Amino acid sequence: MTRIRFLSADGTRETRVTAEPGERLLDVAQAAGQPLEGTCEGAMACSTCHVLISGADAARLPPPSDEEEDMLDFAVGASRASRLACQIVLTADIAALDVRMPPGSVDMSRR
Ligand code: FES
Repeated sequence: MTRIRFLSADGTRETRVTAEPGERLLDVAQAAGQPLEGTCEGAMACSTCHVLISGADAARLPPPSDEEEDMLDFAVGASRASRLACQIVLTADIAALDVRMPPGSVDMSRR
C-alpha cells in the first residue's frame, strides 16, 4: 500500500489517500478529485497529467523513459521533480509519495 499526499499547486490544499500496487498514479489522482485531465489517457501525447513528485519514496520510482522526458519538456512549470502521472504504476516498495499539482494547474473544484 502506498500513502499518497496530493498537494495543490499553491500548497494550500492537501488530500491524503492510499493506493494499492498496480494502480496508476493518474487514476488514483483523478479518483481523489485532483485537477489532472489526462487527456490522452496515457499515450504520452498531452502532458495534462504532469505532476511534481517528492517525498520519502520518490527515488524508488522507475526513471522516466525518453518519451516521457520529451513530453515533460513541453509541460508548464516542469522541474526535476516532474513526472507524467499516467506513466507511474505504484509498486509495493513505494510506501509514501508527495504529489504536487504543477504551477498554473486549475483546480476546477474551487470554481
Ligand atoms: S495522460 Fe497524456 S501524457 Fe499522461
